[in-house]
Amino acid sequence: MDDIRNAVLGVFAVTVLAIVASPALAADPTPAATPPMGWNSWNHFAAKIDDATVRAQADAMVASGMRDAGYRYINIDDTWEGRRDAGGVIHPNAKFPDIKALADYVHSKGLKLGIYSSPGPKTCAGYEGSQGHEVQDAQTYAAWGIDYLKYDLCSLSGPMIAAGSLEAAQAIELAAYEKMGAALRATGRPMAYSLCQYGFYQVWRWGGSVGGNSWRTTGDIEDKYPRMVAIGFGQAGLSPYAKPGNWNDPDMLEVGNGGMSGAEYRTHMSLWALLAAPLLAGNDLGHMTPETLSILTNPGVIAIDQDPAGIQGDRVKAEGPLEVWAKPLAGGARAVGLFNLSDLTANMEVAFADLGVTGPVSARDVWAAKDLGRLSGYKTMVPAHGVVLLRLSN
Ligand code: GAL
Repeated sequence: MDDIRNAVLGVFAVTVLAIVASPALAADPTPAATPPMGWNSWNHFAAKIDDATVRAQADAMVASGMRDAGYRYINIDDTWEGRRDAGGVIHPNAKFPDIKALADYVHSKGLKLGIYSSPGPKTCAGYEGSQGHEVQDAQTYAAWGIDYLKYDLCSLSGPMIAAGSLEAAQAIELAAYEKMGAALRATGRPMAYSLCQYGFYQVWRWGGSVGGNSWRTTGDIEDKYPRMVAIGFGQAGLSPYAKPGNWNDPDMLEVGNGGMSGAEYRTHMSLWALLAAPLLAGNDLGHMTPETLSILTNPGVIAIDQDPAGIQGDRVKAEGPLEVWAKPLAGGARAVGLFNLSDLTANMEVAFADLGVTGPVSARDVWAAKDLGRLSGYKTMVPAHGVVLLRLSN
């Protein structure tokens, strides 16, 4: 009984603290009704991330117009963690003097703050994980005003391997993710819960049941066209597992990090939108080319990702390196991507009847921002490694 009483009082105290302490931005009561949009420190900054850099990224998200385009989360990835005190409470390291103050700053910009931990004893970069401190850490995050947790398997894989069987390993993992999911809920502060375990054990089948709002379906993305293609086009078949509040996550965006061409980044962005994937920019928002900004903020592409129906798109057909993907949108509309994965310009053709659309319908070329008229199909040239993205509506 005492345990229950303490837990209830603890939740009450933390909730009151969170409400009193963060007046600038109320936590979203339904995190991830549409795929989360924001920025994460890892792809560009990795371990070179600190308080000042996070503030500068928040400033740039506002100044660049990305906030107004729909981006909300500023997510600190690995390497913020310091030591636990005698009572077991986690503290940030010297790079982050005061996370509560940082959260207040981010909230004052109309943005939300995310953080990172692991269900194992150590994070992937070797910092302090949450194992054995789940309830305590969730309460600390809530008291700081955190809005999003990325929970990365990392060192939990050790005990899982030692468990000896696939079933025993999976049970360890499920229990660990469920434990943090429950701890986050118990704080009373809505926090989006992002599972990062690289798609093991078909996480799309159970990620939602442990409280996950999104789950990584693959290993890490890299700023290289072949890796982006392998991850993105490897998502075929996963559409049945996404819905509002529960999203497949093919990892964060590399747009603007310099390793791909404009056509390749438009392929990356178009595919992620068709997949209803979280859109977490991974570049330096303070130093973006106009092309990078226009790719990240294209309103037609973002509307496809954020469509209120919350239906993930999927592959319709593939003929060698030429692939057609489609996503049902609210009100019977459709988004269609014609992808050319080959190294040469290609002619591509799609009959809208193949997408279940009885035509003719109004067609719009999203990247060209051009209405094409009422059509029953479309034939077009698609550049090497590029895409033509259409929106069809009645
Ligand atoms: C990886 C994870 C990356 C990043 C990194 C930090 O496991 O997939 O996205 O979070 O750990 O150490």
